[in-house]
Amino acid sequence: MAMATLGKEKEDAFLSELKSRLRVEEITPHVEALSHFSTTTTTTTTTNTGSKRRRGGGVTRLVYTDDDARAREYVKMLMQKNGLTVREDAMGTIFGRLEGTETVKKRGTKRGNVVGSGSHTDAIPLSGKYDGVYGVLGAIEALGALKRAKFQPRRHLEAVMFNSEEPSRFGMACSGSRAMGGVLDAEKLQTLPDVLNTSKSFFDAATQAGYGSEWRGENGSRARTAKEMVEKCSLMPMDSHYYSFVELHIEQGPELEHEKLDIGVVTAIAAPAAMEITFEGDGGHAGAQLMHLRNDAVVAGSKLAVAVEKFAKQSGSRDTVATVGGFTVKPNAINSVPRSAVLEIDVRDIDLKRRDHVVQQIKNAAKEIASEQNVRVDVRIINKDDPATSGDSAMNAVELAVTHLGHSMKRMVSRAYHDTLFVAKACSNVGMIFIPCYKGYSHRPDEFSTEEQMRKGVETLALTMAKLSRESSSIDDVDEEHAKLPFFVPDRDDGEGEGERSGERGSDHPRDPSMEERRGPNDEL
Ligand code: GLV
Ligand code: MN
Ligand code: MN
Repeated sequence: MAMATLGKEKEDAFLSELKSRLRVEEITPHVEALSHFSTTTTTTTTTNTGSKRRRGGGVTRLVYTDDDARAREYVKMLMQKNGLTVREDAMGTIFGRLEGTETVKKRGTKRGNVVGSGSHTDAIPLSGKYDGVYGVLGAIEALGALKRAKFQPRRHLEAVMFNSEEPSRFGMACSGSRAMGGVLDAEKLQTLPDVLNTSKSFFDAATQAGYGSEWRGENGSRARTAKEMVEKCSLMPMDSHYYSFVELHIEQGPELEHEKLDIGVVTAIAAPAAMEITFEGDGGHAGAQLMHLRNDAVVAGSKLAVAVEKFAKQSGSRDTVATVGGFTVKPNAINSVPRSAVLEIDVRDIDLKRRDHVVQQIKNAAKEIASEQNVRVDVRIINKDDPATSGDSAMNAVELAVTHLGHSMKRMVSRAYHDTLFVAKACSNVGMIFIPCYKGYSHRPDEFSTEEQMRKGVETLALTMAKLSRESSSIDDVDEEHAKLPFFVPDRDDGEGEGERSGERGSDHPRDPSMEERRGPNDEL
């Protein structure tokens, strides 16, 4: 009982220390600063509640452009300012590390010894300034605050900025995290066209930005081809690098705001598929060519767009969504019958079978419409990904942190995709923390979260990472009792643990299993 009281006091003291070390008020200026690294400009207005809201064109920041490079420099500067050790992989994913005491993996231990968190800073055309950016800044701030509060992690903590989560430049989303999870096909990557037309391929663009063949890794490691670049970024086999990974993100939907909740604990990430369907006709003169002689590609594309909406609505579940997000017409001239129409179609669901059924319906419809309209059709599947589910220990850690902080929460699925979808290929214990955003708006200029909402998310992340950095590795068998163990037992106060810690520092002495039994409720690893 006395021990429990002492543990609670220590925890409360540490919690207030940590809160006092968080500088969440700096996140908004950093979000603003990053939003200026953009090829489109916006204006900021002040609402009647005093909050600043972005209006106008929105942020555009495509991977490997000058604005992307400026955002990367900014992120690295922040990581260094927060005392993190920075490294970059061959594609440009950036890692900022806070060293844990477990510097050498214990002999015979396959499990990775890093707890990571991060997101992306690239932005789709004309979008908001919080998507991804908040998760990168939040991870850096969480680690900075833990360091300033003198928290001693056992596992290393890493803040991550993933390379191009958005598909905007090469049509392939999550390039950095796909490579990490060992599911990026380098050959296919090299066939993807650059919408900016300023590079020959993804590898060429990466090289122009100082990655790819320009990259120099530890011990002189190099990537001379796209294949080598992709391989160097892999964190496979499963669980060999990350013990756990938890991404912080704005919800991008309206549920949390509507239900007045602080935190969403993500249980699963929906499965996205991306298709590109091209209709080709013969074109002609808009005045001279009679209607019955035409094979108009836009008419075929428009019929398919209507069918796509119908298939999603008819699926029987509100979790099925399908979007014709791109519709490119050629020659795109008012007095020319359209010769080609390229539709970029995004289909998602949390149920893989239902998602794939819609994909199949779209394929069939494209062929039928092509035959009706007498146009040629080409169907390309860009990607068809699986859903990911969160790990029990990661979700438990988040929920325990939320409870400790007295915030409100609910479990929910992520309908948007995130880098965590692919980190899940390399780590079985992933999770995500959502915070509310204004009306659920995202991928639009008026995307917004308040400083208070952001503070709650960053606090939750910091506590979650603290717990995951110290919990027992036998967490595969997580149970309620374990999850209730306290977060904070700074090493320097924990006299009894001294012998155990010297073993953890990698002195090649496997841990004495009898220590497991001797550990009291306040002696969490
Ligand atoms: C991510 O940006 C998504 O489209 O879900
Ligand atoms: Mn996005
Ligand atoms: Mn995002």
